[in-house]
Amino acid sequence: MKRGPGLALVLVLVGALLFGAAHQRLAVAAGPLTHGPVVGALTHSSARVWFRLAVEAAATVRWGRPDLAGASEVEARLRRAPDGGWVATADLAGLEPDSVYHYQVVVGRRAVARGPVPRLRTLPSPGSETPFRFCLASCQSRAPVGGEAFDRMADLDPLFVIQAGDFGYPNSTDERVQAANYLAQYDPAYGLSRLLRRAALYHVWDDHDFGGNNVDGTVPGAEVSRRLYSLYASHLPLACPGGAIAQSFVCGRSEFFLLDTRSRRLKGVGLLDGLDAAEWSQRGWLLEGLERSTARWKFVVSSVPLHPVLGNREDSWCAFPEEREALIRDVRDHTSGVIFLTGDRHTAMLDDGTNSGLPEINSGAVDARPRRAPRGSYSHGALETAQSNFALVEVGPEAVRASIRSSDDGATLLEMAVPAP
Ligand SMILES: [Fe+2]
Repeated sequence: MKRGPGLALVLVLVGALLFGAAHQRLAVAAGPLTHGPVVGALTHSSARVWFRLAVEAAATVRWGRPDLAGASEVEARLRRAPDGGWVATADLAGLEPDSVYHYQVVVGRRAVARGPVPRLRTLPSPGSETPFRFCLASCQSRAPVGGEAFDRMADLDPLFVIQAGDFGYPNSTDERVQAANYLAQYDPAYGLSRLLRRAALYHVWDDHDFGGNNVDGTVPGAEVSRRLYSLYASHLPLACPGGAIAQSFVCGRSEFFLLDTRSRRLKGVGLLDGLDAAEWSQRGWLLEGLERSTARWKFVVSSVPLHPVLGNREDSWCAFPEEREALIRDVRDHTSGVIFLTGDRHTAMLDDGTNSGLPEINSGAVDARPRRAPRGSYSHGALETAQSNFALVEVGPEAVRASIRSSDDGATLLEMAVPAP
């Protein structure tokens, strides 16, 4: 339905007033575009642009090579959001691999944006040896203020960031609480939004953003978390038809497998498939994917750590010792080049597999209160003092180089190189 500019302005004002109590930072002056654009579901040939409008309006995304010469335009799909606004996604297709594009949100024939025109870089094509770098982060509790850690990431120019859970701490499956949390994370004043003007985001949940501390898939309202993830996370096609958020993508000679460590978990029974095992097997999906993959590097994103000492005994892989052992054994027996990317523990450590069972890069508390790592054996060290951190992962044909960086100044705190198999 088309509306005149006068009515749209009134709706913007009313929407801002109604929503303002829960979300003080929404600025009327920003126009109909309140959050985003954010690029997710990035591949070598496609991307999904997500954004939020305060009002229902016909919107498109214009995209093209830098300076938008010969730009294309694609219509956005709007969905009503429980925060009172509208979330929109636009699918960009037919992109060239390893190429920079600029893009703009257009509402009512006018480009709406803050700051410089955002850009994306597509992934190297499958099989390509092009080196690339990405960041790993988890646990952010300060949004919508601060987030300078994401500026330190932007300084390193990553192709994308993997957020491995605790994308805020709503600790609730109430849809309004969850919606307000997503908007806080994407708030234009929060550092993440600055990083996302030039890097793509892949995100899976952990406990606090799925429903609460150490929860499993039986948490009341789990379906709300799933529905809001589908509204607010610009994700890849999901592997499980029933709602788990496991997903994968290929980047050059690397393949990424993002696990859902929460919604199928059942305490005392199983982490990957404790619930609904008959319907679909996440373990089967992962092992078949790893075995079938022709990638040199296979990154497995697990919100919770594999390391037996670093992990929380009630919540991490070590809470499921038999499942953990069997997974490590099967991965080692059937494939090579597997590296776990984990978070959750508000500290950081690097292990080449000597102690974790498989090489593991753990980073947590990108923007939350940090802790020192528990005493234990870590082949390449763990944080001995409490420091907020993220990981930089540099992928090349010879090795994967991981470094744990300070969220404060980007300084290198720990380093590890995993040689190519
Ligand atoms: Fe956390």
